[in-house]
Amino acid sequence: MIDATAPKPSLWQRIKKSLFRLREYRIKIPATITPELVGRDEDVKKIERLLQQGVSVIVTGPTGIGKSFLIDKLRYPKKVLEIDDHKEFKRSLAACLVHLLGSEEEPGRQAVANLIYGTDNPDALVVKTSKESMPNLCRLLCDACGRKEYILKINDLESVTPSVVRILEMLKDHFVILTTARTVKMNNSSFLWDFEKIDLKPLSRPDSLRLFHRLTADLELQQVEWIQNKIHDTASGNPRMVMELAERIRQEPVIDAFVVDEICNNYLGRQTREIDISPVLLLLFGSLMILRYVGRETGDQELTFIGGAVLVMMMFARYFLKEGRRKGM
Ligand SMILES: Nc1ncnc2c1ncn2[C@@H]1O[C@H](COP(=O)(O)OP(=O)(O)OP(=O)(O)O)[C@@H](O)[C@H]1O
Ligand SMILES: [Mg+2]
Repeated sequence: MIDATAPKPSLWQRIKKSLFRLREYRIKIPATITPELVGRDEDVKKIERLLQQGVSVIVTGPTGIGKSFLIDKLRYPKKVLEIDDHKEFKRSLAACLVHLLGSEEEPGRQAVANLIYGTDNPDALVVKTSKESMPNLCRLLCDACGRKEYILKINDLESVTPSVVRILEMLKDHFVILTTARTVKMNNSSFLWDFEKIDLKPLSRPDSLRLFHRLTADLELQQVEWIQNKIHDTASGNPRMVMELAERIRQEPVIDAFVVDEICNNYLGRQTREIDISPVLLLLFGSLMILRYVGRETGDQELTFIGGAVLVMMMFARYFLKEGRRKGM
């Protein structure tokens, strides 16, 4: 703001200013990065279309790939009820019910609230609904709104309990459900049978670089191209990794290839990336079977024994590998 009433500086003040210039300090203000969705146009279009059609969707992909971020950035074609904590499923369901029944925009629903609970005051409804059982809450929730009128957004359905699965079975025909999970175990999640699965892939190289550029546009990078390549190779298109690496290099006073190389090599995120060893195991398994067969055919007991022993060891290999990985981290 310019203060027009401020007195003009005197001659002495002006001389002093030019003689004793203030030293300039560059202060790095940690940028609050407001991330935008990068490179998910096709997925967004597809999910929005499916939700519009009333089809439930599950977004899958490894950790950090951007499932939760994506579903937060959608333009929802219907009204949304959100279950923000699936571990507190009952409390979240009750909150949804209170939201519906206590809504001032819906006098009809307030009348229902008065009928069932004798009040439409949201605070009183919180107390009353918290005493309901989960199946009751489900029934009330379905009665309180039209079929497929609302999208039920449930972030992260990883490791749902059997009781939650039963609840989802009850809700899935009345709501359009949008949820996320790293992996889907179909044998104990039959409510997902008619869901559409959208598997998020790593960002393409241009999108990865675009995201990195957005996050570091204000920084002075030396050997930019080398740095970009290193970041892309380290993150392998995982946006969370790109973001974390960008944030990490912001801490450095000078950002050049040497510094970025060290940061990337020490970045723990990339070490957690799972290596798919199933083709190797399959090959090994096949070779051992052949070994055993040849041993039996030629009557070579040793060969048969080695084949058999390694075969047994391989049965437990998965367990040992898992344990090793856990200890390694
Ligand atoms: N498409 C994207 N564009 C820009 N930034 C992204 C994108 N996807 C993810 N991110 C960034 O990566 C971070 C991690 O993403 P998110 O939390 O959505 O991962 P997730 O797949 O839900 O992981 P988890 O399985 O651990 O819950 C986000 O907070 C966001 O900053
Ligand atoms: Mg998530």
